[in-house]
Amino acid sequence: SSTKLLIKGGTVVNAHEMEVADVYVEDGIIVAVRPNIKVGDDVTVLDATGKFVMPGGIDPHTHLDFEFMGTQTIDDFFSGQAAALAGGTTMHIDFAIPVNGSLLSGLEAYEKKSKKSCMDYGFHMAITKWDEVVSKEMEIMVNEKGINSFKFFMHYKGSLMINDELLLQGFKKCKSLGALAMVHAENGDAAYEGQRRMIELGITGPEGNALSSPPVLEGEATARAIKLAGFVNTPLYVVHVMSIDAMEEISRARKSGLKVIGEPVVSGLVLNDSWLWDPDFITAAKYVMSPPIRAAGHGKALQAALSMGTLQLVGTDHCTFNSTQKALGIDDFQKIPNGVNGIEERMHLVWDTMVESGQISVTDYVRVTSTECARIFNIYPRKGAIRAGSDADIIILNPNSSFEISAKSHHSRSDTNVYEGWRGKGKVEVTISGGRVVWLNDELKVFPGSGKYVEMRPFSYLFNGIGKADAKYLSSLKAPVKRFRATT
Ligand code: URP
Ligand code: ZN
Ligand code: ZN
Ligand code: ZN
Repeated sequence: SSTKLLIKGGTVVNAHEMEVADVYVEDGIIVAVRPNIKVGDDVTVLDATGKFVMPGGIDPHTHLDFEFMGTQTIDDFFSGQAAALAGGTTMHIDFAIPVNGSLLSGLEAYEKKSKKSCMDYGFHMAITKWDEVVSKEMEIMVNEKGINSFKFFMHYKGSLMINDELLLQGFKKCKSLGALAMVHAENGDAAYEGQRRMIELGITGPEGNALSSPPVLEGEATARAIKLAGFVNTPLYVVHVMSIDAMEEISRARKSGLKVIGEPVVSGLVLNDSWLWDPDFITAAKYVMSPPIRAAGHGKALQAALSMGTLQLVGTDHCTFNSTQKALGIDDFQKIPNGVNGIEERMHLVWDTMVESGQISVTDYVRVTSTECARIFNIYPRKGAIRAGSDADIIILNPNSSFEISAKSHHSRSDTNVYEGWRGKGKVEVTISGGRVVWLNDELKVFPGSGKYVEMRPFSYLFNGIGKADAKYLSSLKAPVKRFRATT
């Protein structure tokens, strides 16, 4: 059977240009993008006049069905992806976690969990220990399993954290495989010491999370990871950049010519730490994540860095626990499961905070929410573009319509939302996933099993030096294009 779709009269936005055009879709693939496409009456037509037609969002950083800190995230691959689709995100890259250090067992577990997927997805793989077996398994991941990125935790002492020696081994292996090394950059030893200090001082509430791991520890670990990756001469991707301290290290490194990518997450861009001091435990605990949400100035600085290209793409770190789970830490902040929501809210909040405020253009919006992610993880232009041959993952955003965020209406299974009550301009009215209209008129039509695993290939430039195409791509990562419209 054939699904045919015509999106008429909208402004089609790609990362490099926008134009008024129609988009014709058949069998899950974009077939044509040009003005005045004529079709027969077997084709479903969506009118996008006055609206933006854009590549669906790609969230580079999520944790669905994740076993963490003695519990399990409340959103699995179905509910998390349903939420994503309702918010205009059509693909995510989740972190597969090894089982007892084994990458193969870890991936197998995540393959099972993701069978119920209702949108496309890929995996990064975490590295939580180091030996010959892990080293061999990394080869299998890259050469046979479609994984081209590995996350190293410099935090969570006693569980996920690895030391510098292992970090170096892992970076070397990434380089040899053409895979991208990613770090969670916080000094885990110092954060552990900070936690001891809080307990000694009698600080057991949610604010203890932020106080025990201040920005200086994120800046230190970011600098260390950058220097070690530079020493090995392999590119580095810093996940969830939450502070000025970390951002400035990335900025310095990029100016010196190092290949460093910085990913802010929505919570770090738009929230601040004031809620962590709320006397009501649950109100405060829902904001607990690592690295912690910082004082207000950090978010503003991260927004500016994103607008200037110092930071390249926006994730969420969607890792959701409900109130009951957050209450595991009622007597001790160290037991509050770390993580906040965002997979459903990212596209709206980036639009409202960055485009509506005039900090970035509409094309840059597409770049930071979709295209850059597709390029970095080597799935562009299959993903991240509205052009003939690309997957039909498309959203229609109405800039004149408004959205409101609430746990009462969101699609996550969580009973709270860290963006509760947020009202803003710019609403995703339609989401098309693999050529199917899954979100329309505030109604979601999703089916478990309809999402596809997207394999990600290794990067040749890491083996062969920098070829012409790679050099062009790399310079586009660094291009100091004028991105401000009007900020005051
Ligand atoms: O608090 C967080 N970020 N939870 C998810 C795990 C991680 O570190 O990304
Ligand atoms: Zn067909
Ligand atoms: Zn992390
Ligand atoms: Zn994370």
